Amino acid sequence: MTLPNPAAPPGPSIFRNWLSLIGLVVVVGAFFSFVLLLLLDLSSSGGNPYVGILAYLILPLVLVIGLVLVGLGLVIARFQIARAGGGPFPPLILDFSRPRARRTLVLFVSGSLFFLLFAAVASYRSYHFSESVQFCGQACHTVMHPEFTTYRHSPHARVACSECHIGSGAAWYVKAKISGLYQVYAVLFNKFERPLKTPVKSLRPAQETCEQCHWPQKFSGDLDRVYPHFLSDKSNTPFTVRLSLKVGGSDLTRGPVGGIHWHMNVGNWIEYIARDELRQVIPWVRVVDQQGVVTEFQTPDFKPDPGRDVVRRMDCMDCHNRPAHIFQTADEAVNMALSLGLLDATLPFVKKTAVEALTRPYATKEEALQKIATAMHGQYRQDPRYRRTIDEVQKIYLNNFFPEMQTSWKVHPDNLGHLYFPGCFRCHDGEHKTADGKQEIRASDCTTCHVILAQGAGEQLRQLNPQGLAFEHPAGDVGAMQCHECHTGGGQ
Ligand code: HEC
Ligand code: HEC
Ligand code: HEC
Ligand code: HEC
Ligand code: HEC
Ligand code: HEC
Repeated sequence: MTLPNPAAPPGPSIFRNWLSLIGLVVVVGAFFSFVLLLLLDLSSSGGNPYVGILAYLILPLVLVIGLVLVGLGLVIARFQIARAGGGPFPPLILDFSRPRARRTLVLFVSGSLFFLLFAAVASYRSYHFSESVQFCGQACHTVMHPEFTTYRHSPHARVACSECHIGSGAAWYVKAKISGLYQVYAVLFNKFERPLKTPVKSLRPAQETCEQCHWPQKFSGDLDRVYPHFLSDKSNTPFTVRLSLKVGGSDLTRGPVGGIHWHMNVGNWIEYIARDELRQVIPWVRVVDQQGVVTEFQTPDFKPDPGRDVVRRMDCMDCHNRPAHIFQTADEAVNMALSLGLLDATLPFVKKTAVEALTRPYATKEEALQKIATAMHGQYRQDPRYRRTIDEVQKIYLNNFFPEMQTSWKVHPDNLGHLYFPGCFRCHDGEHKTADGKQEIRASDCTTCHVILAQGAGEQLRQLNPQGLAFEHPAGDVGAMQCHECHTGGGQ
């Protein structure tokens, strides 16, 4: 603080310079805008990501720039005055016996306290804002739009992005912010990938994210699941499968240890090597059980490649890799809409027409919506139900297809199951054997993981068979081929 020395004659003041004045205007402007936006943000419940970005990220930055300008102005002015022979500057004398000095001091201290309070509120709010779903999901709208949309229709719609993507602890917070800086750069300079890459290599292990909420040993027992399907014939013949899925558990005090969640028994250690980015090709698996017995399974053509092979420990995300961003296949979404009556199953060929309209390549959302309408118009314009059919198919498109990011189910394989992607059959395919060939990862038997309680349509679905039925494939016997080789999700 330079207080003017009353003894010295009034000379040129370093306070009188344009740069500091502009800085001061910027500081005051930013400060009042911040207070206004803070009140706005606190009073509205929904929250708008742009208010957040402006209030907690941009305005504090503007304020700091303003302060820097003020300081810079002072330094330059002092330098100029000194050069013009205006110096030397009188020494700073603080004489608190003078009321003017006391007033200035009070003003200075209360100003500083006010500013510190402001900085504390701003940084606290900035921290929370940078962890919020709004910031992660809505701020860079185009980039995150596919993940955000599908997240909002997932079982985790109320779980914050940061709970899975960052988790707790300062180290991961800092790591996330550093990678966030790169992401901001990528968005500003249009350098991001389309579609975004999976798997996210920097994702924390499930033990530190999923397992903070989910107890891995939980006993789930058998889960009853119904999968509605419709064929692509003229009458959209329904074919529903009702399964009892043996999810099981791994806590002996709650039920038998085994079933699908056997993999998660804390005593088991399952590791594997994947040969592709998306972890779809798994030629080698190793199990270390509770007693420490090691069993290695491999496919006949597997050759170790120590320079390239990375051994990964299996966790929740090797099956539940899409717990929040569930891109439905065209088949699945249309089947669901038909089974709920949103699409009318009495419209001839509606399954086939809808799936075809959804899966054609489109460059933009607008083009897609328009061409979907044209396709439906061509097929059904004589029918009074056709407007509703168009609306429904367009809705499916908006929820699952994102042409701007080149994103749909096709680029994000779902590993839970085996119909549209290899999923469980990446290991359970009958090819993975021990070196002596005596033991294999169980596969051939369809009842290892589930029993079919009922299948077909109408009356057939009302008679449950607890022993399990043999699967009656609607298109006849398919031999040893895997389901996903024909069922791509976009009609077959
Ligand atoms: C329940 C946990 C969970 C929540 C909540 C969650 N994610 Fe994810 N996210 C995942 C998993 C798991 C992956 C896939 C990781 C992998 O395979 O490497 C993923 C992948 C992604 C990807 C990479 C592209 C892709 O689709 O695979 C992005 C981007 C992403 N999430 C953004 C978000 C945003 C934004 C939110 C909040 C709106 C969010 N996530 C909420 C678990 C979650
Ligand atoms: C912040 C807590 C939280 C975290 C972290 C979390 N979940 Fe969940 N998860 C939930 C809640 C709550 C539900 C139940 C939602 C419901 O049924 O309404 C749930 C449901 C599920 C379900 C059942 C889904 C269904 O279809 O019913 C699965 C599977 C699941 N979570 C897997 C995961 C995986 C995998 C991760 C890590 C990537 C994860 N969760 C992380 C809270 C969490
Ligand atoms: C080997 C694959 C696999 C692994 C690994 C796995 N799960 Fe699952 N899980 C499944 C399958 C399959 C289901 C049944 C899915 C369905 O309902 O369609 C399931 C169901 C669930 C459910 C719903 C069950 C209920 O009681 O409602 C939750 C929650 C869940 N898993 C959480 C987890 C968590 C947490 C982990 C990691 C500790 C994990 N799972 C690991 C395959 C797996
Ligand atoms: C990374 C490889 C791998 C993947 C992927 C995988 N498993 Fe397994 N699974 C194994 C191994 C190894 C065993 C132990 C050998 C055996 O029992 O055949 C096993 C055993 C099982 C068992 C028998 C458990 C018991 O009670 O002994 C079931 C059930 C099972 N898996 C279901 C599934 C389901 C369902 C999926 C897909 C959601 C799946 N697995 C995905 C490797 C895998
Ligand atoms: C390694 C475990 C495993 C084996 C072996 C297995 N399945 Fe499945 N199957 C699953 C799981 C897990 C699901 C549930 C997927 C989901 O919830 O999305 C499933 C789902 C299904 C469905 C319903 C799919 C849908 O989306 O409509 C059918 C039908 C089916 N299985 C048939 C078979 C037949 C036939 C065989 C024997 C050739 C077989 N499964 C062997 C794990 C297995
Ligand atoms: C050789 C190719 C092929 C293989 C392999 C195959 N399917 Fe199919 N599947 C078809 C055809 C073709 C249809 C009739 C599709 C239609 O009319 O839309 C069909 C229809 C179905 C349907 C009902 C309609 C639908 O498309 O949703 C189900 C369910 C089904 N298959 C399950 C399976 C399961 C489970 C497996 C693996 C055990 C499997 N399929 C393997 C070709 C195959």
